[in-house]
Amino acid sequence: MKNFLPKQYKKTTKLKINHNYLYEQFADYTKIFKEIEKVVKRGDYTLGQKVDEFEKNIAKRTGAKFVIGVGNGTDALFLSLKALNIGKGDEVITVPYTFVATVGSIATAGAKPVFVDIKRDYNIDEKKIESAITKKTKAIMPVHWAGRPCELDKIKSIAKKYNLKIIQDGSQTIDSRFKNKQLVNFGDVCTYSMHPLKNLNIWGDGGFVATNNKKIADKIFLLRNHGLVNRNNSKIFGYNSRLDTLQAVVANYKLKNKMNNITKKRIKNASLFDKAFKHNLNVKTVKRFKHLKEVYHLYHINVKRRNELQQHLIKNGVDAKVHYPIPIHLQDAAKYLKYKRGDFPIAEQMANTSMSLPVHEFIKEKDIKYVVNLINNFFKKKN
Ligand SMILES: Cc1ncc(COP(=O)(O)O)c(C=O)c1O
Repeated sequence: MKNFLPKQYKKTTKLKINHNYLYEQFADYTKIFKEIEKVVKRGDYTLGQKVDEFEKNIAKRTGAKFVIGVGNGTDALFLSLKALNIGKGDEVITVPYTFVATVGSIATAGAKPVFVDIKRDYNIDEKKIESAITKKTKAIMPVHWAGRPCELDKIKSIAKKYNLKIIQDGSQTIDSRFKNKQLVNFGDVCTYSMHPLKNLNIWGDGGFVATNNKKIADKIFLLRNHGLVNRNNSKIFGYNSRLDTLQAVVANYKLKNKMNNITKKRIKNASLFDKAFKHNLNVKTVKRFKHLKEVYHLYHINVKRRNELQQHLIKNGVDAKVHYPIPIHLQDAAKYLKYKRGDFPIAEQMANTSMSLPVHEFIKEKDIKYVVNLINNFFKKKN
């Protein structure tokens, strides 16, 4: 069977605190059905009114002049690279500690991914970018890990100095801000994913590109839909990566009715975790800064004996996860890039010590206390 959901736990594992509460998030699905009924009656199943509405709504939310709805977050990156004419013979700088799609988009566009290590906040170490730049470098692709913005003004000034494009992988950043400003202002594009496990999530795949640059926007509008300017005329050869119309209905509903609460609750839950772990020497949290508005797509801690602690949490009903155990430079897919273990020490260290705790909007204060107590007791017993 190729179309599967990987089963992480034995069927007998009863989780009390899940990483995601998909059913609860869409418990009012009948309201979305009513909107879908209107699409069925109208019959505009591809693009159409609902995608239009979504692009307007999300442009407002992200502060972008232009938003292009596409098939998924990976395509949002890929089409951005294509729109910027980045491909064979070019290099794009990114991080080895991210979801594989970031790097995959660079490779499938034909360019070479070049890695720069992360800092302990999981974001690109901006101080190491310049030494990775070569004559072939065309762009920097910073990943705003878990919705924490990278040091964008520093990245922007490096990009300016070397005449590089900035393609922000903002897949996890809906509602994030850098110095109170929308992320779209710090690069050529910022891309987003609406995968079911993202903060702004839908009933399948979907994504979008936000940009203030009309030329780039016009090109991506063409690329996502076979280069068609109308039914019969194609300006360039392109792809089929339209945001699905029914998914746009779901996204509009979530934006209007849920998004504020999701962002607010995740920030609140993360601050409760931060506070609880403040004096725990066994648990390292990420240092927070006022100029970075994080939206906590994930809440990370770093611990010794990570795997043991994860099993302890799962045994006690807490869905603790590892994002991610293998950095990209050590994946089979990246062998041709000829990196080796030890090349990116912080990324490798994070892969061994980081763990993400449930932080979503349905978690209650008592759940957070329960998780914190489990972690504290684990270290008390072992020390
Ligand atoms: C950092 C990052 N980049 C890219 C993607 C790709 O998005 P999608 O799954 O919508 O293609 C994701 C999410 O899955 C992601 O988390």
